[in-house]
Amino acid sequence: MRVGVLCSQVRLEEKEIFRALRQRGVRFDKIDVRGLCFDGSAAGLDAYDVVLFRCVSHSRAISVAAMLQERGVRTVNAYPVVATCGDKVLTTLALLEHGVPTPHASMAFSQRSTLDAIAKMGYPVVLKSPVGSWGRLMAKLNDREAAEAVTEHKRALHRYFPAPYYVQEYIQKPGRDIRTLVAGEETVYAIYRSSSHWITNTARGGNAINLPVSPEIDRLSRAAAAAVGGGLVAVDILEDTDGSLLVNEVNHTPEFHGAMQVTQVDIAGRIVDYVMRVCEETL
Ligand SMILES: Nc1ncnc2c1ncn2[C@@H]1O[C@H](COP(=O)(O)OP(=O)(O)O)[C@@H](O)[C@H]1O
Ligand SMILES: [Mg+2]
Repeated sequence: MRVGVLCSQVRLEEKEIFRALRQRGVRFDKIDVRGLCFDGSAAGLDAYDVVLFRCVSHSRAISVAAMLQERGVRTVNAYPVVATCGDKVLTTLALLEHGVPTPHASMAFSQRSTLDAIAKMGYPVVLKSPVGSWGRLMAKLNDREAAEAVTEHKRALHRYFPAPYYVQEYIQKPGRDIRTLVAGEETVYAIYRSSSHWITNTARGGNAINLPVSPEIDRLSRAAAAAVGGGLVAVDILEDTDGSLLVNEVNHTPEFHGAMQVTQVDIAGRIVDYVMRVCEETL
């Protein structure tokens, strides 16, 4: 069994994954995505039974995933999962298609139609970049004046960064959201991410708190993972005022440094166990 771990910057998470691979005696190589060049071949990555994506950059991951799928190389995650999770519009469509509860969302292509969509939805709303992470490039719009200002800036920037306007209803969550990790058929852990800011990502200062995986969280997390095509994904869940749970988004290359501090789970170990199960399916 030989695993290729595709990274750029090596973070705490990657070091943990290398440790878990060594502990299990799995042969692996660390491959820097920045050194790869595809010329119609698999750039040597067909030497591996599975390639695990740990690149920070979504645009690199999606390109490599597409090329490796085309060359028949198994990847975690598979190209369709990377493509769906990397785009919040596609994620919303997949969740809706599979009946997974998610906040109301609209996609529009002009400032005017966006303002109309927001008026219909009712303030506050969250305007997001369809591609992005770490809570970047999103705005909570509390009223029409804020919406006009931000959409005007977005319209001007579209000349350089064309993208649809993706808007979600704002969920009045209780100062936290829920993050879970799913590996295949298993929910590996759940945490609260709590913050005094409405953006609760740990990358933005949110605090991780361990949350036992309830049957409801387990079911919802696995349903969200299945909706985007399965694999190894992290699920962001919002608690609505009536206590119901809504899946906000699904991530294809999850960080877990916050969860590592507060859960008793060997997260990197569970990730490697999943990669080994995928390997065994291909051998
Ligand atoms: N519709 C929403 N209602 C309430 N809070 C939200 C909403 N969308 C995002 N957030 C907050 O912002 C954070 C980042 O949003 P998210 O859609 O997960 O983007 P990213 O890909 O940057 O993590 C979430 O973890 C949550 O705390
Ligand atoms: Mg998120």
